[in-house]
Amino acid sequence: MADHRPVDSVDPNNLPEYGLLAQYEDVTSLKQACEQVRDAGYSKWDAHSPFPVHGIDAAIGIRPTRLPLLIFGAGATGTTVAVLMQWWMNAFDYPFLISGKPLWSLPANIPVAFELTVLFAALTGIFATLGRNLLPRHHHPLFNNERFARATDDKFFIAIEAKDGRYDATRTRELLESTGAVAVDSVPDDSKINASLPKPLVYFIVASFLAGFVPLGIAARAWFTKSAEPRIHLNPNMDFQQKFKTQSPNPLFADGRSMRPDIDGTVAEGWLRQDDAYYRGLDADANWLVGFPQQVEVSQGTMARGQERFDIYCSPCHGTAGYGDGPVARRAAELKQAKWVTPSSLHQDYLRTQPEGKLFNTISHGIRNMPGYGHAIPESDRWAIVMYIRALQRSQLATTSDVPDSERAKLR
Ligand code: HEC
Repeated sequence: MADHRPVDSVDPNNLPEYGLLAQYEDVTSLKQACEQVRDAGYSKWDAHSPFPVHGIDAAIGIRPTRLPLLIFGAGATGTTVAVLMQWWMNAFDYPFLISGKPLWSLPANIPVAFELTVLFAALTGIFATLGRNLLPRHHHPLFNNERFARATDDKFFIAIEAKDGRYDATRTRELLESTGAVAVDSVPDDSKINASLPKPLVYFIVASFLAGFVPLGIAARAWFTKSAEPRIHLNPNMDFQQKFKTQSPNPLFADGRSMRPDIDGTVAEGWLRQDDAYYRGLDADANWLVGFPQQVEVSQGTMARGQERFDIYCSPCHGTAGYGDGPVARRAAELKQAKWVTPSSLHQDYLRTQPEGKLFNTISHGIRNMPGYGHAIPESDRWAIVMYIRALQRSQLATTSDVPDSERAKLR
């Protein structure tokens, strides 16, 4: 490699020695030479060949890399850091209870722990590999030797560094010559004068570094200045559409409204509810229906469903037994709420004789101070509740004739 860069303080004619470079003609002699150099106890040396040589590692005496240990350590550190960090943030520094979940639990920590493990291990792998191989390095003293260029073509080399403890200019040269080298050259160490980066590369790095400040500058300017322009929207997608929003005016219609009211007489799909008995609790003469509509099956199953729904929707106010003493009513009494209206006891005479259709209507639309539950409870469940109310009412007025024959004997 020609030296095209200016020489500064170091005298190019009197450079320190980098080491000795020996050339070999074939792989076999390279390998044998390597074994001899290895056995002579040298450690700071290397072999160069145009292609990978099987067994050369052993011939040079290269030990297995310790990189895996380092990477494992880094990975374990990543796991530990991630778990500790999450424990610190979630359970210690800012404990915040979400839905009664534990403040700190391992399963929730796994994604972050996994990521940090991989991150630490991968970065360590990359940088340790570069570092232990003394990379990146754009210049090497061996490049100055003209023969050495053929290390990428058809020749084989061994280079022993002068830094090696066993190195001795004459004796090391003798050793190399005795291994069958066709040539042994002394290589000067020019890294002091040639190691500086090539100028174009320096310009490029400086320019990139400065260019890196441009986005920062733009951000800083946006931070300190005011603008009437809308912000830059990189990907508009369908964010801005020509459309009429609810409650906005619309000149297309005579009444100027965007939201269109239902057209008189139209019924939404599936909402044509002509069955007065089932949907409104009315009989053919528009009186409250007595009994149940034909769709409602009077059975143990319906009754159980009614009890379940009653306990969910009605018992908070009316109480599970229907006496108007549910927890909401008791709490209101405790607070002595002046405006509180006590939920009716369902065991009053007028309610016992009230037609089923009227009870159904009370659930659907509410009554006086009680809100309607038609929006929350479908018709079939409302009828089931009515059925259960009938059972509740009867349960409070039972006579011995209501008890089955088989059980009656047990009563006193
Ligand atoms: C938020 C409390 C509350 C809930 C829940 C509630 N009710 Fe009532 N209910 C009342 C109150 C209060 C009254 C008395 C209203 C009044 O007299 O102004 C009442 C009255 C009634 C009456 C008497 C109607 C009449 O003709 O006088 C019936 C029947 C009834 N509720 C059934 C039910 C059923 C069935 C449910 C469950 C689907 C239910 N209620 C859920 C508070 C409630």
